Amino acid sequence: MAANRSVLVLPGDGIGPEVMAQVQRVINWFDDKGSVRFDVTEDLAGGACYDTHGVSIRDETMEIAMNTDAVLFGAVGGPKWDDVPREHRPEAGLLRLRKDLDLFANLRPAIVLDAMVGASTLKAEVVQGLDILILRELTSGVYFGQPKGEQTLDDGTVRVVDTQAYTEEEIVRVLRVGFELARKRKNKVHCAEKSNVMETGVFWRQISARVAKEEFPDVEFQHILADNCAMQLIRDPHQFDVIVTDNLFGDILSDEAAMMTGSLGMLPSASLGNPDPVTGKRYAMYEPVHGSAPDIAGEGKANPLAMLLSFAMMLRYSFDLGDDADRVETVVQNVLNEGYRTGDIMQDGCHLVSTEEMGTKLIAELDRTAD
Ligand code: IPM
Ligand code: MG
Repeated sequence: MAANRSVLVLPGDGIGPEVMAQVQRVINWFDDKGSVRFDVTEDLAGGACYDTHGVSIRDETMEIAMNTDAVLFGAVGGPKWDDVPREHRPEAGLLRLRKDLDLFANLRPAIVLDAMVGASTLKAEVVQGLDILILRELTSGVYFGQPKGEQTLDDGTVRVVDTQAYTEEEIVRVLRVGFELARKRKNKVHCAEKSNVMETGVFWRQISARVAKEEFPDVEFQHILADNCAMQLIRDPHQFDVIVTDNLFGDILSDEAAMMTGSLGMLPSASLGNPDPVTGKRYAMYEPVHGSAPDIAGEGKANPLAMLLSFAMMLRYSFDLGDDADRVETVVQNVLNEGYRTGDIMQDGCHLVSTEEMGTKLIAELDRTAD
């Protein structure tokens, strides 16, 4: 049997621990019944970490993250930490993980399962069969650009600055990931930017045109302005396959794409670095696109499926366990086909279940498929 896979589990805040608890049950299921075992280390991150340790992620935790095969992340943040200084805010821990592990390629697949067509706020004919991938640059752009923060002008008034900045290499490497993924999908890439107003937009446009022409002439390629992309996603999402975009536009467009699938509670993500040229090791973190949803935290209402589908992405991308990933994804589809729904995706004629009950259904279905 292969060596155990090491996983750092960071449930975080709000609904993070509840949805992660269901994944932990699935991990235990694999340990018991599957052919793969996991060594799980759990730690605090976000507001929960700040409350205990005064920082949103500890150096010790970063050290573990650097030496583990994959990180599974829940969600962070909430109104409780609104007044915490920015460097200690719950989100800062998440951004540090992304930056220090250099997880520049953030895959956010939006897939509309047949059982979920009616849960979308868009018309069924618009979203039926949808399968698109937002590839978000995750370690640069306005999230990290310097200078950042408050300045006092000569006249004593305050000015606040965020900086959008990209190097050529940062754009090229994420584009390459996008083109390579497209080759295994519908072979089509859109690059979304604002080249009509932003210098970095012009740069993204030039570089993407060059990479498309010189390195991926076999892949269909199109430029699109990010605002138009937002509109086209609602109008006719089927025109897209892979959308490559910067950190901020990717944050926004992926929330929009998520909602097409019925709920933010359905959308997983994988954040990947480049494989180390010597060891071949690739840092990776898997997290649902939804946030910590403090308004429903602790009530058993949260949808654990995005977290579980993130776990499936971990099986696929970090451990090359495509069959096991397929199995988890099939189990999710089966449970939805049987009509079980958490509140966020509830439809007429379906059975409303709690977070934990959804987990129980998933385990029962895993048992069934293992027979
Ligand atoms: C996301 C989230 C994060 C982001 C927050 C929690 C910092 O919205 O992963 O999409 O803005 O990247
Ligand atoms: Mg977001």
